[in-house]
Amino acid sequence: MPLSQRATLTRFLIEERRRYPDASGDFNALILDIAIACKAIARAVASGALGGVLGNHGGEQASINVQGETQKKLDVISNEVFMRATEWGGQLAGMASEEMDDPYPIPEGYPRGNYLLVFDPLDGSSNIDVNVSVGSIFSILRAPQDLIDSGRPLAAEDFLQPGTQQMAAGYALYGPATMLVLTVGSGVHGFTLDPAIGEFKLTHPNIQVPPDTQEFAINASNSRFWESPVKRYVDECLAGKTGPRAKDFNMRWIASMVADAHRIMMRGGVFMYPRDTKDPSKPGRLRLLYEANPIGMVMEQAGGRASTGREPVLGIKPTSLHQRIGLVFGSRNEVERIERYHAEPDSYRDTNPLFAERSLFRD
Ligand code: F6P
Repeated sequence: MPLSQRATLTRFLIEERRRYPDASGDFNALILDIAIACKAIARAVASGALGGVLGNHGGEQASINVQGETQKKLDVISNEVFMRATEWGGQLAGMASEEMDDPYPIPEGYPRGNYLLVFDPLDGSSNIDVNVSVGSIFSILRAPQDLIDSGRPLAAEDFLQPGTQQMAAGYALYGPATMLVLTVGSGVHGFTLDPAIGEFKLTHPNIQVPPDTQEFAINASNSRFWESPVKRYVDECLAGKTGPRAKDFNMRWIASMVADAHRIMMRGGVFMYPRDTKDPSKPGRLRLLYEANPIGMVMEQAGGRASTGREPVLGIKPTSLHQRIGLVFGSRNEVERIERYHAEPDSYRDTNPLFAERSLFRD
């Protein structure tokens, strides 16, 4: 279809809303404001050193965020872009992000609304300085009714809702093309930013993640810290045609979760950042509320699966705003296989030389 005939994001949302005659329009307005934030961030990312972002900001250490990671200035800028684009319109009761220790209440003077926004404004920010794809991830929750009714102060607990309660989720990918991939609970749809007119246009309706794959993504430098079900799964992939899977696998790792997720949305695959023994204080690397849950909802809405390896991610009741979690997502049959390996008696651990007496894992 010629690009000019494609539905814009605005038209798509209006047509979706016709299915819910009672809807106020707030929800669509919020998504359109998020899309504006993503366009602004796309522009800052695309300008690179020319925009003064990499040269003047990106490479410099700005501050340390709540995760103890270095915040590049573009992280901070992207966070502010998200806040300014969404705080004023009366749709939100508050927001929380990777870059803020505490939830952000809607400032006095702006109307408060019925939704909560959780986001990672710039995922994969270690890739900015090397001109590799990064993205933004977002999740929309309904605000607890007592927060809406009482006008009491916003609390971190308001955000601690399982992923099954997300109203919408998605991500923007700032790659060779900028894309917005969105679910409002009725499938997943991909929009490409038409730079000529600054509009997102529907280019990938009803995305489906293929159930099978021969491609996996994991940071293999952590292999000595993996638990045995993950070790078994990866070893079997690496054994290829000569191993129990009887087929060769390919491996990819972009180190921007949003870009790895997008590849999986487009052609299948499995992504793992599982729980490991690297740092016992951290039960995983990725964050539940603004990484695992939104990507999990997008995957599941597209027919894929998202899990910790032990249980579906979307069912977990969060215990803190910045909680980390082991995460496995992608092609359904592969994720289910990894879950089976976690559930089965651990014969791999008993027979694998890596786990033998006096080995790396048992000394
Ligand atoms: O937010 C965390 C993140 O940047 C993800 O986007 C990415 O998948 C991961 O970290 C990369 O981790 P590592 O540095 O171990 O490759």
